[in-house]
Amino acid sequence: MKVPHPIQYQGSKRNLASTILRYFPSRFSRLVEPFAGSAAISIACAARGKANFYWINDLNKPLAELLGLIINRPAEIADFYEKIWNRQHDDSIEHYYRVREDFNRTRDPRLFLYLLSRCVKGSVRYNSDELFNQSPDKRRYGTQPETMRENIFGVSALLKGKSVISSLEYKDVLSNVNEDDVVYMDPPYQGVCGDRDSRYFAGISYDEYILALAELNERQIRYAVSYDGRTGNKTFGKLLPDSLLLTLIELEAGRSSQATLLGRDAITVESLYLSPRLAIEVEASPYFHRKLETEQLVLMESERHYVAKMS
Ligand SMILES: C[S@@+](CC[C@H](N)C(=O)[O-])C[C@H]1O[C@@H](n2cnc3c(N)ncnc32)[C@H](O)[C@@H]1O
Repeated sequence: MKVPHPIQYQGSKRNLASTILRYFPSRFSRLVEPFAGSAAISIACAARGKANFYWINDLNKPLAELLGLIINRPAEIADFYEKIWNRQHDDSIEHYYRVREDFNRTRDPRLFLYLLSRCVKGSVRYNSDELFNQSPDKRRYGTQPETMRENIFGVSALLKGKSVISSLEYKDVLSNVNEDDVVYMDPPYQGVCGDRDSRYFAGISYDEYILALAELNERQIRYAVSYDGRTGNKTFGKLLPDSLLLTLIELEAGRSSQATLLGRDAITVESLYLSPRLAIEVEASPYFHRKLETEQLVLMESERHYVAKMS
């Protein structure tokens, strides 16, 4: 299934979306994404017609506004992108820096689409003054306007009239969800810079997040969380505590290029945690990804614990 994606966003779940969606009920009333980013999961869910309605939220306001434009005013944002993309031909690097400066002054979401499409690996970086400071990718000009237009109209066709967009703190979203919703959460990654992650505009406190999840359990909310991960036996971020009674599913997210460089053949595995009510409903059992690294590495490292598939 070809799913449209206008926003280049590092950490986007677009490649894992179909696997993640297997752990959602086949049909439900509303999907809520408090940490939507490029909204890859909402878009994939809408492409499969799983939910009737979508609440897409991200604290990064220009990003949330950009999603709103793509969904509700596709022609306007596609035309603007084409215009700004065509202006980069004389000196594309200089053009990028000018657009970046304008964006930091105005926070105009339309400029953000061009920056995300043209910056290094679609990776959002902010300095301590919360100014966008990512450099341009010198080898690419960014998505061609025609392709961008197709992707924009594709997303609009899937979500227009069925979605609300907001830019709230995630806790304000969670306090407004109900038992008919499914909530998918992909918070900023841990293990990079603690509570403040320059890749995502804002970080979150681990302890507060755990409290918020415990409260969702009490309210019997169905939710799924993408959280930590590992490459080989190197884990990124803290695990979510057993007290939350979550079902952990390990998903294969591809091969680590860094490990490959080091002569290892390590697989990156991402964790998906299902809330107690969701796990019962979709009949999920814990799944731990089997070791797939070379035997040579196993001989070198004695303390390794892998658990075979349990379901
Ligand atoms: C890992 S990214 C989500 C990627 C997304 N799943 C996708 O497919 O593109 C995390 C997102 O959380 C947002 N965020 C960070 N802190 C937040 C907060 N306190 N409340 C809501 N959103 C937040 C960031 O702006 C970022 O876009």
